[in-house]
Amino acid sequence: MKIGSITFADPFVSLAPLAGYGDTAFRRICREYGASLTVTEMVSVKGLVYGNEKTETLLSLAPNESPSCVQLFGSDPEYFYKAVKLPQLNKFDIIDINMGCPVPKVTKCGEGSALMSNPSLAADIVRACVDAANGRPVTVKHRLGQNGDSINSAEFAKTMQKAGAAAITVHGRTVKQGYGGSAAWDEIGKTAKAVDIPVIGNGDILSIADAKAAIKNYGVAGVAIGRGALGHPEVFAEQDKHMPETLLKHIEYALLYLPERVAVRTMRKHLCKYLAGTTGTKELRLKINTAETAEQLISELVKADYGKQRYLRNEEKQ
Ligand SMILES: Cc1cc2nc3c(=O)[nH]c(=O)nc-3n(C[C@H](O)[C@H](O)[C@H](O)COP(=O)(O)O)c2cc1C
Repeated sequence: MKIGSITFADPFVSLAPLAGYGDTAFRRICREYGASLTVTEMVSVKGLVYGNEKTETLLSLAPNESPSCVQLFGSDPEYFYKAVKLPQLNKFDIIDINMGCPVPKVTKCGEGSALMSNPSLAADIVRACVDAANGRPVTVKHRLGQNGDSINSAEFAKTMQKAGAAAITVHGRTVKQGYGGSAAWDEIGKTAKAVDIPVIGNGDILSIADAKAAIKNYGVAGVAIGRGALGHPEVFAEQDKHMPETLLKHIEYALLYLPERVAVRTMRKHLCKYLAGTTGTKELRLKINTAETAEQLISELVKADYGKQRYLRNEEKQ
């Protein structure tokens, strides 16, 4: 599987961009377990161009993120051009453009999934990024269309290919669906057939076995996993086991990339995902949500024998 001139081993199984969760520590863990590619949380091109400090913290990379990928969002081709030209973006090997975000705060500005209703502007954005990217591949992530009556994924992907996109990720839901219902893989398959560039299918993949089946059955070049990796980065490993040490390593990495106060708050969210599906952890969750230091987090986890809970999940799967 190739994106531009970058070659990936098969099967290609990447971590989908996840705002609020796809921080550097989490991406590092996902790569350790075998994710083919990890993508930053979506980053505003306006925020970058205006030098917003919060925006720039989203650009930190883990040492194992090679090749690397940044996801940008916005609606003005000029801002995309300027953002991709910024020296802070030189370290990224792939530039991905968000054309799938359904959040009203984003779409009402013509950004994210709103671009699927404006293919000519979307194409201008791709061209602006290609012009600025200095030979690096530019990719697009989009949905099926606005709603069930206006599915335009295959047409849209063709337009993106013509504008210079090197690969497409298709999330098999409409904007109206949000994250509900199930992903329509037959529509993803139709999009994969419509273009010559690699299409990465996305939606409801929960294991490497799912990933391989999707690649085989729908003609996609690879898949991206979003929610299936939350609290479960081991999903990328061939030998998928819930490992107790994953949580501790995740906390350790969070402290490398974030000030402790922020790391603890970020880890609260992740730990809630790690503990989802476990039983008898109500008290532990409450303690986690009021912990203020990493030491408190770790001591609560150890006291509650959290590792046993994770091992129990392995047994459940059998
Ligand atoms: C919490 C959360 C944050 C997300 N943030 C982004 C984002 O920043 N950029 C993007 O393109 N998609 C984002 N998505 C969508 C996912 O990348 C993915 O397309 C979607 O979750 C479907 O895949 P899944 O069924 O494997 O979760 C987000 C999804 C979730 C649940």
